[in-house]
Amino acid sequence: MLASELREKYFHFFKERGHIHIPSAPLLPENDPTVLFTPAGMQPLVPYLLGETHPQGRRLVNVQRCIRTNDIVEVGDASHLTFFEMLGNWSLGDYFKQESLAWSYEFLTNVLGLDPLRLAVTVFEGDDRAARDDESAAIWRKLGMPSERIFALPREDNWWGPVGSSGPCGPDSEIFFDTGKSGHPGCRPGCPCGKWFEIWNNVFMEYKRTPKGEYEKLSQRNVDTGMGVDRTVAVLNGMDDIFRIETVQPVVDCLERLSGRAYADTPRPFRIISDHVRAAVMAIADGAHPSNVDAGYVVRRMVRRAVVYAHQLGITQPFFGELSVVVLDIFSPVYPEIVTQCDSIAQVLEQEAQRFEHTLERGLKQYHRVIGNLLENEQKIISAEQAFDLFQTYGFPLPLTVELAEQADLQVDEAGFEHLFAEHQEISRRGMDKKFGGGLGDHTEQSTRYHTATHLLHAALRQVLDTEAGVRQMGSNITPERLRFDFAAVQKLTPEQLQQVEALVNQQIQRDLPVSYEVLPREAALNSGALAFFGEKYGEQVKVYSIGDFSKEVCGGPHVAHTAELGRFRIVKEEAVGRGVRRIRAVLE
Ligand code: ALA
Repeated sequence: MLASELREKYFHFFKERGHIHIPSAPLLPENDPTVLFTPAGMQPLVPYLLGETHPQGRRLVNVQRCIRTNDIVEVGDASHLTFFEMLGNWSLGDYFKQESLAWSYEFLTNVLGLDPLRLAVTVFEGDDRAARDDESAAIWRKLGMPSERIFALPREDNWWGPVGSSGPCGPDSEIFFDTGKSGHPGCRPGCPCGKWFEIWNNVFMEYKRTPKGEYEKLSQRNVDTGMGVDRTVAVLNGMDDIFRIETVQPVVDCLERLSGRAYADTPRPFRIISDHVRAAVMAIADGAHPSNVDAGYVVRRMVRRAVVYAHQLGITQPFFGELSVVVLDIFSPVYPEIVTQCDSIAQVLEQEAQRFEHTLERGLKQYHRVIGNLLENEQKIISAEQAFDLFQTYGFPLPLTVELAEQADLQVDEAGFEHLFAEHQEISRRGMDKKFGGGLGDHTEQSTRYHTATHLLHAALRQVLDTEAGVRQMGSNITPERLRFDFAAVQKLTPEQLQQVEALVNQQIQRDLPVSYEVLPREAALNSGALAFFGEKYGEQVKVYSIGDFSKEVCGGPHVAHTAELGRFRIVKEEAVGRGVRRIRAVLE
């Protein structure tokens, strides 16, 4: 089945059940500073989920173009995309669980013809804030779902929203398709092993999280659902690679022509370029031009990553123009409103890529000189000064240096880099704006939140692991989409420890602790018990940041003023990155 057929069948099905088809909102939210891009179909509907009257009524359906920036670093496997399409149906204070789940089941099994025996569902298991969702479980059983394929899962899995730190949210019931793979032992829906593929989420939005972190019942009971077009089409066609479906494959094909290489041989660069070009084209079509801040910075990063990976495929000629035409051919029938800007999108992308090409060539030369020297001396770490020089003199953003270093099995002293960066920022904030260009985007509002979250994570790890020597920070890297924190530890963290760390950080966010700093002579700062990891690199006077009574750390900043600004903290990965060094990746949602 094609994506176009799936969209049409979905609209038809829900229109028959009284829903009005509303257009997709733009990717750049209007009057909504809480998100950079529209991350789900519900986001443009937040005021109506909270109780305002929608002009089209109480039953709505649409396909929404979405970008989720948290996933940028995950792109490269067979299932992650930053730009994707989400089908959704909504009840704004109208029908609730019974209709919603019954219709989902009917659509999947009767209309799409999926084998009911390959479906499994999840429901919220309940906690001290909201009750277990027995009602949904009972509805599923009545629909014919065997009890052993109804999984009750905790808040991390089965509670959706709010998108920012406050807003509508609620327990959800997710529908999974069994790929038939053997899976991990004890594997259940939500397990990342790849056996279960999530295709549809029904959220029962009857709660609101307040800016203080409290949960209140809304005045109306809503349903918010989301079905990934790309994923569902992949399932319906028995594909386990999302890059093979008809809204992505033409981009991959075009790249094969441009590079003369085969996707099947090295899928990763093909996937990264295809994904980033799709997302960049759609973002620019909605007005997010490459820049150093906010959504524009995300687009700039994607263009730069695409250029780097295109080099890996041996593509040196301009390629954005041709690829943008392919992307627009795919999506302009679905989203006619993007067509008007067709010419300028290709132009904006080409210009942006060209500007970076120049920097990239000079930077790559310098980078190879640096690693050549390291390898000669049998060293494995690119020093803070070397990374900073690549950045300052050659305009090489730190994430790029880190990514290239990882490929050569080298590490970068990222913490040292951050320190040099902060030092410079302090010396000459104004002059830097002009001089550093691209790098400044790293210190946008979102990065600032991640910076504060990193301090909370650090302090939480120290409490949970409680080792003699404490937790020693080995590195830290922040982008507007995630944080990464490296620390010395011999053993892998247990799932319980990870959960404790996550909960502890979220508790501090909910306590809405104030963040403040004082400037102290270096010795006095260290004697005060503030954590510090840059040794001799500190100047005479240092800033000590305190987060309530929970954390105290020497750092250049910047930080948020109150922890409630961070939203919800989630650990996405814990892994080893070298002997005795563990790495945690986490996101704020
Ligand atoms: N808003 C819900 C989601 O994105 C449906 O999963």
